Amino acid sequence: MNRIKFILTLTIFVIFCSCKDNPASPTGIVTDKAMVVSAREEASKIGSDIMQKGGNAFDAMVGTQLALAVSYPRAGNISGGGFMVYRNANGEIGSLDFREKAPKSAYRDMYLDSLGNVIPNMSTLGATSVGVPGSVAGIIEVHKKFGKLPLKDIFEPVIVMAENGVIVTAKQAEMLDNYREVFIKVNGDSTKFASVYKEGEVIKYPKLAQTLRTIAEKGRDGFYKGEVAQKLASFIQANGGFVTEEDLANYQAVWRKPITFKYRDLNIISMGPPSSGGVTMNQIFEMIEPYDISSYGHNSEKTIQLFTEASRRAYADRNFYLGDPDFVEIPLDVLLEDNYMKQRMSDFSFEKATKSEDVSHGEVEIVESMETTHYSIVDTDGNAVSVTTTLNGNFGSKLYSDELGFFLNNEMDDFSSKAGVPNMFGLVGAEANSIEAEKRMLSSMTPTIVERDGNLWMVVGTPGGSTIITAVAQTILNGYEFKMSMQDAVNAPRFHHQWLPDMVIFEPDGFSPTLIEDLKSKGYIINEERTPIIGKVDAIRVLSNGKLEGGADKRGDDAAVGF
Ligand code: GLY
Repeated sequence: MNRIKFILTLTIFVIFCSCKDNPASPTGIVTDKAMVVSAREEASKIGSDIMQKGGNAFDAMVGTQLALAVSYPRAGNISGGGFMVYRNANGEIGSLDFREKAPKSAYRDMYLDSLGNVIPNMSTLGATSVGVPGSVAGIIEVHKKFGKLPLKDIFEPVIVMAENGVIVTAKQAEMLDNYREVFIKVNGDSTKFASVYKEGEVIKYPKLAQTLRTIAEKGRDGFYKGEVAQKLASFIQANGGFVTEEDLANYQAVWRKPITFKYRDLNIISMGPPSSGGVTMNQIFEMIEPYDISSYGHNSEKTIQLFTEASRRAYADRNFYLGDPDFVEIPLDVLLEDNYMKQRMSDFSFEKATKSEDVSHGEVEIVESMETTHYSIVDTDGNAVSVTTTLNGNFGSKLYSDELGFFLNNEMDDFSSKAGVPNMFGLVGAEANSIEAEKRMLSSMTPTIVERDGNLWMVVGTPGGSTIITAVAQTILNGYEFKMSMQDAVNAPRFHHQWLPDMVIFEPDGFSPTLIEDLKSKGYIINEERTPIIGKVDAIRVLSNGKLEGGADKRGDDAAVGF
């Protein structure tokens, strides 16, 4: 009898386990061996073609980064910065920091007037907001360490695309139209983007093609030294900015140890400081792990409460402690310690919302612009690359070099211009992220790779400023806890809380009025005026048969391409 009981229990247990682990059928594009998912089909195709010609994921990274600079100039760039997290087919992991830096002449109060007030627009618009670009150093470093194909072969299709031009999508036409006046204000009315570009038109980039040719020939010196560097530094300075030829020549990308942590049987690999992404996501996952979130249901009241309260606490720490690790002491061993995070959640209750003012370090707050772009790559050998890159704002500083063919970043605004005082978005920053010469500004970019049972499972990331971290975490939870396909996990409506301001934002149409009312009755403050899209996630899931499913965000023109 006992034996029968045992067998029955075992059978029920096995059935339960296999249901729980049953992977979702793919609903996104599936390819056999290799894939790139990015903000533009043209860029994904260039990356995929590189792999088809025998290049690896790192060659494809170089090609995709460059192709986005041509086809997606609002965030794709050679004049911004970013982070890459990788996992090689043999399980080796690492990350590259090619974040912009403050120029050597930068100093703490550079954006303050004589009365100590933040000077409007100085850190956001035009040459004064430009940080020393890191993207070209990034791709050259990646290619030097891991590249298989000659650099020139990777550049060539991108140069051809820049010369032949790229079709303007409906979304791009609208975006260019929205920004035309400010382009003219910053650059004058003879600048390239003073023209009206309609959907379906082709924009050619001959000057950018020429700059890319110089980099293809000379490597990093083609951008950071010689003619391009001279033109770039004098252009920035002629417009009142601070970046010099010396700043450009001194710029170096840095290989850093990624943040890695376990969540149930997942191993999550993400970017460490100067990005806050990995640390903050680690804290969020650690705080929710003791709860059976899958039983609460996707975007249910309890799930939203749990995730919101973990985010509230993690962002409070993020904003206070994090900055450039080359300049500030970050107590990572404490911040990521189990007991510390248990104690952070000890006052959490499903009965009512915690007030952000009751969560420590309430005197500071940081938020970055919502723009940026992400791409995910897996190659035929199983090497995986996750890259998030940015100019900061849409089209960065809006300063466009007609001579060199690209927009310049406004990454200096990711520093806190004055600790505790709101910037132009009504937001304030912390001391750890104050401006210093040659320091990197804090970021939220969260390029991430997830292993499941020791194998590559997901490559994921998104734009979205401070919402990047919660969007990436929710996409992973959607796939793992709520058993969604990659495409469904990306499509699912998202919500966000970042401690300050103390409010939850929800995407439009995904959350019922009853749910919102119930949350309000528990003390949650809901921003009902602001229902923006949260992130544009581009991700890849490795299926149990080894094939790849793309999750290209329907919120943009994003596309998965592979073979
Ligand atoms: N500029 C956006 C970020 O770095 O998070």
